[in-house]
Amino acid sequence: MSFVQVTLRRPNDGDGYNLHRLVARCQPLDTNSVYCNLLQCTDFSDTSIAAENAQGQLVGFISGYRPPSRSDTLFVWQVAVDATMRGQGLALRMLLGLVERCAEQGVRYLETTISPDNGASQALFRKAFARLGIDCQTRVLFSRAAHFDGRHEDEVLYRAGPFAATARYQGADMNVFELNESSVRSYCRSFPVVFKQARGAELITRDGKHYIDFLAGAGTLNYGHNHPVLKQALLDYIAGDGLAHGLDMYSEAKERFLETFNRLILEPRGMGDYLMQFTGPTGSNAVEAALKLARKVTGRSNVISFTNGFHGCSIGSLAATGNQHHRGAAGISLSDISRMPYANYFGDKADTIGMIDKLLADPSSGIDKPAAVIVEVLQGEGGLNAASAEWMRKLEKLCRKHDMLLIVDDIQAGCGRTGSFFSFEGMGIQPDMITLSKSLSGFGVPFAMVVLRKELDQWQPGEHNGTFRGNNHAFVTAAAALEHFWRDDGFARSVLAKGQRIADGMARIVRRHGPGSLSVKGRGMMLGIRCPDGEIASAICRHAFDNGLVIETSGPHGEVVKCLCPLVISDEQIDQALGILDKAFAAVLSNLPAEKAS
Ligand SMILES: Cc1ncc(COP(=O)(O)O)c(C=O)c1O
Repeated sequence: MSFVQVTLRRPNDGDGYNLHRLVARCQPLDTNSVYCNLLQCTDFSDTSIAAENAQGQLVGFISGYRPPSRSDTLFVWQVAVDATMRGQGLALRMLLGLVERCAEQGVRYLETTISPDNGASQALFRKAFARLGIDCQTRVLFSRAAHFDGRHEDEVLYRAGPFAATARYQGADMNVFELNESSVRSYCRSFPVVFKQARGAELITRDGKHYIDFLAGAGTLNYGHNHPVLKQALLDYIAGDGLAHGLDMYSEAKERFLETFNRLILEPRGMGDYLMQFTGPTGSNAVEAALKLARKVTGRSNVISFTNGFHGCSIGSLAATGNQHHRGAAGISLSDISRMPYANYFGDKADTIGMIDKLLADPSSGIDKPAAVIVEVLQGEGGLNAASAEWMRKLEKLCRKHDMLLIVDDIQAGCGRTGSFFSFEGMGIQPDMITLSKSLSGFGVPFAMVVLRKELDQWQPGEHNGTFRGNNHAFVTAAAALEHFWRDDGFARSVLAKGQRIADGMARIVRRHGPGSLSVKGRGMMLGIRCPDGEIASAICRHAFDNGLVIETSGPHGEVVKCLCPLVISDEQIDQALGILDKAFAAVLSNLPAEKAS
């Protein structure tokens, strides 16, 4: 027998396709390749997930490995879903489950190869990258010509990351949402659990896990979840067949709200001659109405709004909003707004009002004479930037000088959030219009209105129309909230005291974890801690969530960890939440490279 000379060598990527053909030609070896699947279930079980149906049948499998040269990476080499399970999001659940498991073991990057003709796998991995909030890079890893003898498409490497150590598996629990709801949903991505109940400042998942709520429906629940007084008022009203919806017809519920708001809020603040306009139930629609009315009354289209201001996501309010992420979705040009620097935008030495004054006084500045100025006294989404009383007074003076209406957007900072019903109280200003929503109903029931000076009420009937203007259930809970919380100044004083407690706790966190790099922002119970960047702030929020605190970020880069807890929160809950935050800052900042932490 004569032996053919062969050389034994280490395989390389050029051998891959030929190896496949060698195995295919070699019958027993081909059958034996089931052995590879056995290895996936044994030696590679740490990086694999099997999905089993109720009958115990295997209906899905995902398998990968951690390349020895890149142990921070999970390389997924196979995803299989039984035909009976297609279209149910199983592949995504398995993939995210695997990522979650590997994240705990130090994996931070996800890799796979997909050929350009495999749209389903591309969609799967893109969804996973989006869910994990990680960016992906691609390059051809194995080319059609060099590796597949021209018989198979290129295999493109997808590499994405880094993801967080606490990358969460939005698993079986989330399936209904994943399958049926638009990807526009946002808060649920930070808090991937299913909530079932809520009371006061506490949220409870369907698994019975309790969270302290430092988000409060983005400032919608100043009086807490399901406040018993408000709940009873609504239950009684519904039990008595009170009108739920009646367009803008007169109802007893509306009558009671108008009377109560006037008596407890407007009159005591010297605003008894202001009127109330009920708009569509979103804050954004109240802003639309105020902008429209200012333009109608003055006959001018331009409006001044401020850097980092947030006023809503419908086209008119979006034009006044600064945030590029939201503006980018408009799809059309956002016009008739001149953006000006907010208080302290250029530091506390710059005279931003003087600058605007100069621009408005100069007929060649290129700024068309505005109808109005729209401003938040304390910018919520923009990062808790607070205007001083002096700046607000100067702004009002500027409005009078240049014949512009002053619109205060109190949608987030109003209804007691800063320690008074309106955020501008005590500043010595009289806005022409005030927009309110969020906590106005007090119960999380959609409700918005514009409070306006009487002489501005130049609307024709139905000119700013809308089917859901003035929600009767909201009238009921809002009136009950006003009677319960705003009959005297006890509630406002308690808000200031709790705000001080939170501010002191935050100051301690700053001192302990980064006096040079962290700072407390905001006032009243609208407070936060500015971090060096948005990545750090969101890692802190994730850590806090893992330990029982629902909290979000704000600011242009998401760099402010923002507390917006219900105003009725107890001191014990505040201390508990601050303890969770303290640990989150410690954990995240101690893991940072020195240059990032400072
Ligand atoms: C100050 C301010 N104005 C307007 C809006 C828009 O309100 P909505 O989201 O109800 O349209 C918001 C929402 O966060 C806000 O904070």
